[in-house]
Amino acid sequence: MGITPQAMLADHRDEIERAAAHLRAGRLVAIPTETVYGLAADASNARAVAEVFQIKARPHFDPLIVHIADRVMIPKLVTDFPPLAETLTRRFWPGPLTLVLPRIPDAVPDIVTAGLDTVALRMPDHPLTLAVLQRTGRPLAAPSANRFGRISPTTAAHVRDELGDRIAMVLDGGPCRTGIESTVVSLAGDRPTLLRPGGTPVEAIEAIIGPLADPEVSAGTAAPASPGMLERHYAPGTPLQLMSHPPTSPPRVEGRLGLLMPQPCRDVDVSVYSQVELLSASGDLTEAATNLFAAMRRLDEAGLTLIIAITAPQSGLGIAINDRLRRAAMR
Ligand code: TXA
Ligand code: MG
Repeated sequence: MGITPQAMLADHRDEIERAAAHLRAGRLVAIPTETVYGLAADASNARAVAEVFQIKARPHFDPLIVHIADRVMIPKLVTDFPPLAETLTRRFWPGPLTLVLPRIPDAVPDIVTAGLDTVALRMPDHPLTLAVLQRTGRPLAAPSANRFGRISPTTAAHVRDELGDRIAMVLDGGPCRTGIESTVVSLAGDRPTLLRPGGTPVEAIEAIIGPLADPEVSAGTAAPASPGMLERHYAPGTPLQLMSHPPTSPPRVEGRLGLLMPQPCRDVDVSVYSQVELLSASGDLTEAATNLFAAMRRLDEAGLTLIIAITAPQSGLGIAINDRLRRAAMR
């Protein structure tokens, strides 16, 4: 694919230095990752992290992921890195997998972890952000760089539109390759538990470590909480209705309809819709995930009355796509 990581680093040397200087001074920088753009702050600086919550209008009970570029950071942050964590990170880091582990009490300020006794760790797979992490020399706390509850940004332009001049810098690393947030797995409870489906397919994880517990099934037991997963989220301003097939006769609404399809559907009368977004013409769910959030933004900007979204097959990245669509459809 086009430009090599080395060429990208050479092209962005000054910007990497500027980003690291801002972060070390306690300012906020939007960073590219393979999943979505993050709004980064020095994780050891409580005041900088507080500003992240303020700019996103994010509730303080929802903890942030701590990003690292080097495994030497791990024992400074967590009390225990079990063999399962070793196995999973050897296979999937750098990449879209976040692990929740027991934290060392004062390793990061309480505001980062919302006071929980765990911390979420991730090593992102983007050459610019890995370089920024290395130059900053500190872990970075970074939620997705959108206002709370809204659609996550997958380009630098999305971040500029949404957070504009409220942050020191947007580091433009191109469009995000995976396009959907990391898979979050907790290794802090009795059993490995899936807290959020994401860019690493659940099947790929389960093939290595066996079945993951589902927090919704084990709710009320000793299952670890994922404070951020209770909410309506990833939501366009336009109402969105989720269906398993395009309706044979579309709902009679005043105004313009949009249609969001992860893959081609048979027997759709597209002439009924003012705007149609097909996420992958070949039906590839990985490609569909990459295109999901940008398509949701385009639909949201098209002045529609209602967006009809069709569910993906519930496998591979289809699981993460369906999770985001379900949350976008909540009112
Ligand atoms: O791909 C990603 O993970 C992106 C990029 C920027 O790295 N980040 C991201 O962050 O999606 P955010 O803040 O939008 O989502 C973090 C999720 C939330 O659902 C939060 O509740 C959960 O991770 N989380 C963070 N720390 C946790 C902890 N200690 N225990 C349980 N859940 C945690
Ligand atoms: Mg988010």
